[in-house]
Amino acid sequence: MGNVLVTGGAGYIGSHACKVLKAAGYTPVTYDNLCTGWREAVRFGPFEQGCLTDRARLDQVFAAYRPRAVMHFAALSQVGESMRAPGLYWHNNLAGSLCLLEAAVAAGCLDLVFSSTCATYGDQDNVLLDETCAQRPVNAYGASKRATEDMLRDFGAAHGLRHVIFRYFNVAGADPEAELGEFHQPETHLVPLVLDAIAGRREALTIFGTDYDTPDGTCIRDYVHVMDLAEAHLRGLRWLEAGRGSRGFNLGTGHGFSVREVIAAAEAVTGARVPVVFGPRRPGDCTRLVSGSARAREELGWTPARSTLREMIADAWRWHEAGHYTR
Ligand code: UFG
Repeated sequence: MGNVLVTGGAGYIGSHACKVLKAAGYTPVTYDNLCTGWREAVRFGPFEQGCLTDRARLDQVFAAYRPRAVMHFAALSQVGESMRAPGLYWHNNLAGSLCLLEAAVAAGCLDLVFSSTCATYGDQDNVLLDETCAQRPVNAYGASKRATEDMLRDFGAAHGLRHVIFRYFNVAGADPEAELGEFHQPETHLVPLVLDAIAGRREALTIFGTDYDTPDGTCIRDYVHVMDLAEAHLRGLRWLEAGRGSRGFNLGTGHGFSVREVIAAAEAVTGARVPVVFGPRRPGDCTRLVSGSARAREELGWTPARSTLREMIADAWRWHEAGHYTR
């Protein structure tokens, strides 16, 4: 089936995509600088260490593997950090993507699947966010992803680069076979933090804000299973291979859950209490981010089959108990 260059293949979502690609008969070639990824997560194809901004290294990898397509996951992705250090985000996410697109075009590799985010929509509280909503990011992370989307369109028009853009909502869960999972250092995401609190790896979970305009006062997010997301990427690749052209899709379920509902689901799955403390709102957090997800269902035939809170938390918990990656 051929090689697919997977930038960020050592990261949380990229590594799961590699597993799905391999199972579908492709050879995923991971390109990752391991600044947030894990060598142990690269299990399904060759590994090439390098930075997105290293054009010579990228040219070498394109020449060695002649990939038929690129899946571009590599990015910094913490909203809070992007507000404190925006330069890091513009450099890694935008300048890095520019270098990758130029290398891809030079190598004649013109199909690319790009990881974008619902953070490109910004704060449009109480709106179901579909692909026609205006993109008004409120943090540097979202802005760097939106700018990359713009760049993809320009490269499409000028150089024939065909792209599928996926705007993820909140990704959770792990490989059901527990070979792969979510592990960030430091961890900032809700589900692994809840599980850490249950396992006693941290004293308590802090709920960031209980005075939001939602039924229980906590923020609402649309959680999607990482394996469903990986499956969508395979469909995105096939979409491009079938010559269906450039397109953007949201990846979410269309259902929102509050922080308290996630905690309750984790308690139901594990049978343990989550020790909780209440803190102030976290800067940059939107009240409610829920996807209008009809386009991916209708056009890609994608169904987020595993994306119940129970299944995401059960899979994450299984991996959590099996152990973590080490440097
Ligand atoms: N939360 C807590 N306590 C914590 C951590 C999180 O209450 O210790 C809350 C947050 O306030 C938020 C919800 O749990 O309401 C989810 O927070 P995450 O940090 O897990 O996820 P975010 O919604 O902030 O971020 C995710 C992705 C980003 C993406 C963003 C779009 O991680 O990459 O969605 O909003 F940009």
